[in-house]
Amino acid sequence: MDALSAAWLERLADRLSRTEGDLAAHRAVVCRETLAELAYPAFAGNWEEAVNDEALPLGTRLALSRLDPRNVTLEPEYYSDCDDARFQPVKPLLWLWYSFDRLPIGGQNVELGIPLRRMLAPLIFKRCGANFKAFQHVEFSFGYNLEVGDNVVVHRHVLLDDRGGIRLGNRVSISDYANVYSHTHSIVEQAEVTNAQTVLEDGVRITYHATVLAGVHVHEQGMVGALAVATKDVRPYHVYVGIPAKSVRVKPNAPEPATILRTTEGRLQRPTPEL
Ligand SMILES: CC(C)(COP(=O)(O)OP(=O)(O)OC[C@H]1O[C@@H](n2cnc3c(N)ncnc32)[C@H](O)[C@@H]1OP(=O)(O)O)[C@@H](O)C(=O)NCCC(=O)NCCS
Repeated sequence: MDALSAAWLERLADRLSRTEGDLAAHRAVVCRETLAELAYPAFAGNWEEAVNDEALPLGTRLALSRLDPRNVTLEPEYYSDCDDARFQPVKPLLWLWYSFDRLPIGGQNVELGIPLRRMLAPLIFKRCGANFKAFQHVEFSFGYNLEVGDNVVVHRHVLLDDRGGIRLGNRVSISDYANVYSHTHSIVEQAEVTNAQTVLEDGVRITYHATVLAGVHVHEQGMVGALAVATKDVRPYHVYVGIPAKSVRVKPNAPEPATILRTTEGRLQRPTPEL
């Protein structure tokens, strides 16, 4: 990485290293100042005056004011199950993450984007292991309900709905445009929401445009094929495809017990033939 990018990241990491006091307020200021420098440098030094300057176009003042996450409402803030005490300190970091991705300097800028997100992730998630790699336009629900193991890769435009909690093991890979959910709605009462933790164990791969529904447990080395919808647990080392996803094969490197499904309650269950 070049010296300028490294110095910028180091200064941001230093400013976000605070662990005491009003973290939500502190991070909101860091987020706003960081975005102002990147997006509206002419106003970075006099943000407050500019927001209140009636000589400036209304749209400019509005755009400037919304760099501060306290002037924005994010979707989870409309959910009754969102824990405000946990969400408010992560909200500025999510706003910075999403906004960076929409700037010329962000988006496709992998060299800067990956280390920036790797620095933000442990401050947002419940747990984040080593070498986390996220490409552009990844979105979360709460962020604080996500547990991530080591060497996890999340590709572009992935939705990680951690409302009911998501746990990702080590070496999990989630491909472009995949969706992992952890909440669902009653088919009768749309407002009735059920949260259920979704688990992707070690070595799991969720491939392009696939969807994993709430509460599904994808066991170690399981794979969900392109465009599949996993509505039920995925057996270890099995490759599931289609809607609803069914096993089409066991990976050739599977150990013998891979033909056995371990349920989320930990019970062992003989699989029934699915093809
Ligand atoms: C899931 C996948 C890996 C399966 O590959 P495979 O083990 O070589 O399986 P095959 O191509 O032999 O397919 C087996 C059967 O499933 C079908 N099938 C394969 N992928 C499918 C999919 N995504 N959706 C529906 N059916 C699929 C095949 O048509 C074939 O059916 P048939 O037996 O009736 O002819 C692959 O199809 C896939 O979805 N790849 C996504 C790309 C990828 O790997 N991304 C990873 C990036 S990290």
